[in-house]
Amino acid sequence: MNIPREMAFTTLGRTGLRVSVAGLGCGGFSRLGQGQGASVAHSIGVVRAALDAGINFIDTAEQYGTEAIVGQALLPSERDQVVISTKTLVNEAGTLRTPQQVVASLHGSLKRLKTERVDVFHLHAVAPRHVGYAIEVLAPALLKERDAGRLGHLGITETAPRDPTHECLSAAIRSGLFDVVMVAFHLMHQNARDRVFPLTRAHGVGTLLMFAVRLIFSQPDRLQAVLTDLVRRCQLPEDLGRAETALDFLSAPGCGEPKDESRQGLTAGSPLDAELVTDAAYRYGRHEPGVDVVLFGTGSVAHLHTNIQSILAEPLPAAIQALAQQRFGRLVGVGLDSPVVVDVP
Ligand SMILES: NC(=O)c1ccc[n+]([C@@H]2O[C@H](COP(=O)([O-])OP(=O)(O)OC[C@H]3O[C@@H](n4cnc5c(N)ncnc54)[C@H](OP(=O)(O)O)[C@@H]3O)[C@@H](O)[C@H]2O)c1
Repeated sequence: MNIPREMAFTTLGRTGLRVSVAGLGCGGFSRLGQGQGASVAHSIGVVRAALDAGINFIDTAEQYGTEAIVGQALLPSERDQVVISTKTLVNEAGTLRTPQQVVASLHGSLKRLKTERVDVFHLHAVAPRHVGYAIEVLAPALLKERDAGRLGHLGITETAPRDPTHECLSAAIRSGLFDVVMVAFHLMHQNARDRVFPLTRAHGVGTLLMFAVRLIFSQPDRLQAVLTDLVRRCQLPEDLGRAETALDFLSAPGCGEPKDESRQGLTAGSPLDAELVTDAAYRYGRHEPGVDVVLFGTGSVAHLHTNIQSILAEPLPAAIQALAQQRFGRLVGVGLDSPVVVDVP
């Protein structure tokens, strides 16, 4: 098993919260392993392993069904050292939630998390057409809850597959009501660099990164299928249609960081190593200016440790970052689809 390096911390924008640069996501497809049928005890173990490795930022949501697991995993004496982020849906199965419903949802989260206050409470997966409602109708009710001490900071998350150009976050950040946002950004979906990060940095908004790896960079078959499709739609040249060529820079010195020493020294043309891809994808997200916390979801303690190592590793070499931008910088919305679980973004 890899021994995690010492955790690094940063300040989450104007919240002033000191947070680990690696954050444990309790949603996605893994949901701490619940998505694959793991026991509650196993999932509690994943949370404990994250805390033991120095992670102090935990992101969950009412919708994920993992709040109670986080609540059970945390000892009361640890509560003040951990930053808990959770969420309420705005649009539940086609019906907009009322202010009373989102406040009731917050109170339910507090109960499940066994705490009197969450540090960040987000409106979850807000579609562009609902962001005005979120700002004008829901946020004021939640700001009263903040004033009553039941939440520390208001946040908002986008629905990446349905909002690949970040319309929700653009409006939300400009409203000045949200101290934290959660945004999708990865090697082949880089447009937050121009559309979101300049705004978050100008407004001092804390920025949580999702989709750094997801399935596109954790499942080699998925990556290959995406590349084949991009070539078919003339969005990538044919010579980048194979994963080994599209990501051939992973063989450059200082780029890949295989955990298995026998795989070090990959040469150009070697078959692509899945571990090198996830490593590079996490490092790419982590070192993008404007990113505070890189979230990752997992049900595996081994993956947890590997991911922390990647997030704490050096940036990819500048020439490689430039190549990634040149090759993939024009792509928008790649690899964001959630064909497995549609309602749990
Ligand atoms: N709109 C929203 O609010 C929203 C949407 C999406 C995500 N999120 C948040 O962001 C967090 C991260 O989600 P994400 O969308 O970025 O996806 P993710 O859940 O981090 O996806 C990573 C996937 O790759 C696997 N994996 C992780 N580490 C690996 C490794 N080292 N090697 C191979 N496979 C690995 C995981 O499964 P294993 O269990 O096998 O490790 C998981 O299926 C979520 O948990 C959630 O907190 C929020």
